[in-house]
Amino acid sequence: MKVTVVGAGNVGATVADVLAYREVANEIVLLDIKEGVAEGKALDIFQKSPITMYDSRTIGVTNDYARTADSDVVVITSGLPRKPGMSRDDLIGVNSGIVKSVTEQVVKYSPNAVIVIVSNPLDVMTYQAHLTSQFPRNRVIGMAGVLDTARYKAFLAEALNVSVKDIQAVLLGGHGDTMVPLPRYTTVGGIPVTELIDMDKLNAIVERTKVGGGELVKLMGTSAWYAPGAAAAQMVEAIVKDQKRVFPVCVKLEGEYGIDDCYLGVPVVLGKNGVEKVLELKLSAEEMELLQTSRKHVLEVMAVLQK
Ligand code: LAC
Repeated sequence: MKVTVVGAGNVGATVADVLAYREVANEIVLLDIKEGVAEGKALDIFQKSPITMYDSRTIGVTNDYARTADSDVVVITSGLPRKPGMSRDDLIGVNSGIVKSVTEQVVKYSPNAVIVIVSNPLDVMTYQAHLTSQFPRNRVIGMAGVLDTARYKAFLAEALNVSVKDIQAVLLGGHGDTMVPLPRYTTVGGIPVTELIDMDKLNAIVERTKVGGGELVKLMGTSAWYAPGAAAAQMVEAIVKDQKRVFPVCVKLEGEYGIDDCYLGVPVVLGKNGVEKVLELKLSAEEMELLQTSRKHVLEVMAVLQK
């Protein structure tokens, strides 16, 4: 199996690092436009392998897409990250051009790959990759829900003083302040979370999750990478190993949830074909309204792209 990660910044390098030590693929190509950066980080990851004991080999290249040929999965992390005070949507002007040109190269060299987008604004960059690649929807997907649910689970585990491993949760909607957490589908060791925490505390956790990326941008002056990188790697693993994992993933909706014009995060089954199935939940009127608000927001940013 061969996986390419485009962009050797903090997120891209973390994706490659996690893929390597989990031995998700034997060949991992890390590509960047800055001379030497991908080569250096790939070499560093290779030199870590005798310590943490893995056989995957990471190769770094500067803009040489021929070396990415016939990848099974391509993760695109390219683009500018957020600075304090910026929303993800502020990045659209620069990042849409970058994602477009990267996607053209990916299509040329790996026409059968599943593309996983990480660049922001996430939902709209996934749409951009779809427009450029013309790949079927199952092979153009975005990473957001795995990260957002991870943040939500981490905050919940801390509040309840329980293991993060025992929390199951799902989120819907765009990657941004309009994401839709679904507390009634959150369980702790099989117990509905609503039996273990009072609503005020739960609502505070939901609100913190919505701005979870921004909290980190404020602290660090740039956006996060450990959890985003691991989240993208977890999606790649599900695809490469055909695990049929159930994750919230950004995908083009074609009638599910009554929506057919938008890229949004929904639970799916992830396997060797990318999205094998979109899972449609019965939403309450209130949840549906929140999802529609999220849809409207993503559509507004999609409209900027169309101009
Ligand atoms: C975040 C960025 C990666 O949420 O969107 O941290």
